[in-house]
Amino acid sequence: MAGTQGEIIAARGLGFQYAGSASKALDDISIVIGQGEFVLLTGPSGCGKTTLCRCLNGLIPNFHPGEISGELLVDGVSVAAETTSELSRKVGYVFQNPENQLFALTVEKDVAFGPENLGLTREEIRGRVDWAMEAAGTVALKDLAPYELSGGQQQRVALAGVLAMKPSVIVLDEPTSFLDPRTAEEIMGAVDDLRRENGITVIVVEHRLDLVGRYAERIVVMDHGRIVADGKVEDVLDAEFDRLSGLGIGLPKVSLLWSLLKRDGLVSERLPTHVESAVKMLSQRLSN
Ligand SMILES: Nc1ncnc2c1ncn2[C@@H]1O[C@H](COP(=O)(O)OP(=O)(O)O)[C@@H](O)[C@H]1O
Ligand SMILES: [Mg+2]
Repeated sequence: MAGTQGEIIAARGLGFQYAGSASKALDDISIVIGQGEFVLLTGPSGCGKTTLCRCLNGLIPNFHPGEISGELLVDGVSVAAETTSELSRKVGYVFQNPENQLFALTVEKDVAFGPENLGLTREEIRGRVDWAMEAAGTVALKDLAPYELSGGQQQRVALAGVLAMKPSVIVLDEPTSFLDPRTAEEIMGAVDDLRRENGITVIVVEHRLDLVGRYAERIVVMDHGRIVADGKVEDVLDAEFDRLSGLGIGLPKVSLLWSLLKRDGLVSERLPTHVESAVKMLSQRLSN
């Protein structure tokens, strides 16, 4: 895949069952993700997306007890062999509810907290904090307390805190749940810029495909703890449209419109994933 330099995440037969739970939250997950990829992870509520994210940054098994099976390597090292603090340098995780990860008195202190615990020089810490706050668009918020912020602002601050660790992988768990479409678009754009400029691997958990589909090259669909589809966004959307819509995933309206036109035999092209590609296909048709 374009921009890929090597594998950063490799799961083989990964399974997890929370302690006290009757069924597996993850069941036989095998996936390889390359450095620099932008992956959209989707699937219905309760299918195991957050659980998979927790495995990537070591929250499972370190903070969530349960039974883990199979293998998970991040940057070639088994997560079982690493502490959460080692893993936090590799995988930055912006929680689904970011208020749960902000605790310092001010935004700036919160962003500085991670780097301060890495034993860096003052200059290096300063540089990272300034860079991360700029990249996440939180400079104007720096003296505010996290509880004074809106959900979207908290998400940006959590992102800045993660960026300041300069991780190889950033995981954003349902980042648009608190965001209006424009802010969501801005954050996705900023994250994608970081990926292009710094080769960071980005994994976004989202069930609204319209917001992330234009940035992600790859989509991984989960259902009942398993991966049920994995491929390029255009390919999966075209081949699995009915199945995805059956899972209740928020498919782009333009893809839905196209699929209905296709069903009626009015168009034959593959489903567009965003408006721009639909416009291109339509103008080609109309000019012929
Ligand atoms: N801390 C937990 N303890 C026990 N069960 C959990 C916990 N977190 C999630 N689960 C269960 O694991 C399954 C997967 O949940 P989750 O990974 O949160 O799904 P998603 O993020 O896709 O909505 C669900 O059945 C959920 O109820
Ligand atoms: Mg979740």
